[in-house]
Amino acid sequence: MAMMEARVAAAKVDRGGYGEDLLGLMLEAWSQERRQAGSARKTRIPPASARTHSGRRKSGRRSSENSPVMWPPTPTFTWFYSRHWLYPPIVYIQRTATTDAVLGGIRVPRGTAISIPIGMLHRDREVWGPDADEFNPMRFEHGATKAARDPTALLSFSLGPRVCAGQRLSITEAQIVMAMILSKFSFSLSPAYVHKPKSVVFLTPKSGMPLVLRNLDG
Ligand code: HEM
Repeated sequence: MAMMEARVAAAKVDRGGYGEDLLGLMLEAWSQERRQAGSARKTRIPPASARTHSGRRKSGRRSSENSPVMWPPTPTFTWFYSRHWLYPPIVYIQRTATTDAVLGGIRVPRGTAISIPIGMLHRDREVWGPDADEFNPMRFEHGATKAARDPTALLSFSLGPRVCAGQRLSITEAQIVMAMILSKFSFSLSPAYVHKPKSVVFLTPKSGMPLVLRNLDG
């Protein structure tokens, strides 16, 4: 907290900004100017702070897809969602029915354990289209709610009142880290890479992910 306050105070004196590191970038993203720029855009684009993935208003925890930090979608944003859609780190989530219910015409008695297979649902061609197996960042160019036939189809961070509390943090962090890496390096998969996704709590490459890195400065 003291570090952040010191940066904010220094930025007021020196209009140069909050610093070049991760903390500086995050503070800059939430600066007065950026927030005002964000609210100016709200007339054009409904902010997620007022809407769920499905576009309905609700009072519980919210999706952060359209936060001013991430809108309009940047290449790192579309990359992030594509990667989390095709290979969701959490492959399935579980729920227990607290009352008798009927879901999609199926009777679900109270106490039933329900597995929601996120990874499988993301490959459903009826929802995601015939290219449901393909890595295509452009799928997310208009945001996560427009990427499939159903605006609530993306479940990588779950949805509703129990939506991931760290969604905004992880998206922002991943974008900043990726942008910092790409400013210095290019990389491609090593020929030694073997494609073997494996779920051990999180989805991971079973044999690792060897990369070939090139320093852009030569
Ligand atoms: C790429 C990174 C992440 C992914 C894919 C992810 C995904 C998810 C998913 C699918 C859930 C729902 C789990 C369930 O209902 O069974 C969840 C819940 C949660 N996540 Fe994340 N998460 C990520 C990062 C984070 C981070 C960085 C934090 C904290 C800083 C965080 C905090 C939480 C919390 C507290 C919940 C429980 C919310 C609740 O039940 O009310 N997550 N996450």
